[in-house]
Amino acid sequence: MELKNGINHYGLVSRANHWISAFLFIGLIALGLYMSDLPRGPEKKDLYDLHKSLGIGLLALMLLRLVWLKISPNPSQISYSKFEHILGHATKGILYLAMLMMPISGWIMSNSGGHDVAFFDLFVLPTLVGENETLHEIAEEAHELGGYAMIAVILLHTAGALKHHFVYKDETLKRMLGKK
Ligand code: HEM
Repeated sequence: MELKNGINHYGLVSRANHWISAFLFIGLIALGLYMSDLPRGPEKKDLYDLHKSLGIGLLALMLLRLVWLKISPNPSQISYSKFEHILGHATKGILYLAMLMMPISGWIMSNSGGHDVAFFDLFVLPTLVGENETLHEIAEEAHELGGYAMIAVILLHTAGALKHHFVYKDETLKRMLGKK
C-alpha cells in the first residue's frame, strides 16, 4: 500500500485525508444548519461544542494536507477542455480555501462573541481576538454565507467527479477511491 502520491495516482495519505475531510465538511454544514435552529439549552450548547471540535479537526487535517502537498504533490487533474480544466482547479481551490477559512471564521466568531473554542474536552485553543460585536457580526455573516456557498461548490465538485466516472469513464474517481 503506497503512502505517497504518484504522477497518476493518489497515495493512502491523500486519499484518507480527502475522504475524512469530505465527510467532516459535509457533516459540519449539516450540523451547523441543524443546531442554529435549536432553542437555547443544553442540547444546543453540546452540539455547538461538537461543531467547534470537528471544525478544528478539519482545520488540522487541512494544515497536514498542506504539509503533505509539499512532500508528495497531487497527480495532475485529468481534463478534456480548457473550461473544465479551469473549473476543476477553481472548485478545488475554493474548497482548499474554505477548509482554512470556515474553521478560522468560526473560531473568530466564537472568540469575538465572548466564547472559547475547545477541542472536545482535551484542550482550549488560544483566543485569537477579544470580545468585539462588529467583528462577531462580520465573522458570523462570512461563516454563514460561506457555508451556504460551499453547498453549491461541493455539489459542483461531486458532479464533476461523477461526470468523469460515468461520461468520460476515466480514472479520476477511481484513483481517489484507490481502485485500479
Ligand atoms: C461525495 C463527495 C465527493 C466526491 C465524490 C469527491 C471526489 C473527488 C475526486 C474524484 C477528486 C480527484 C480529482 C482529481 O484527481 O483531479 C477529488 C479531489 C479533491 N476533493 Fe473531493 N470529492 C467529494 C467531496 C469533497 C469535499 C466535501 C471536499 C472539501 C471539503 C473535497 C475536496 C477536494 C480537494 C481539495 C481535492 C483536490 C485533491 C486533494 O487535495 O485532496 N472533496 N475529490
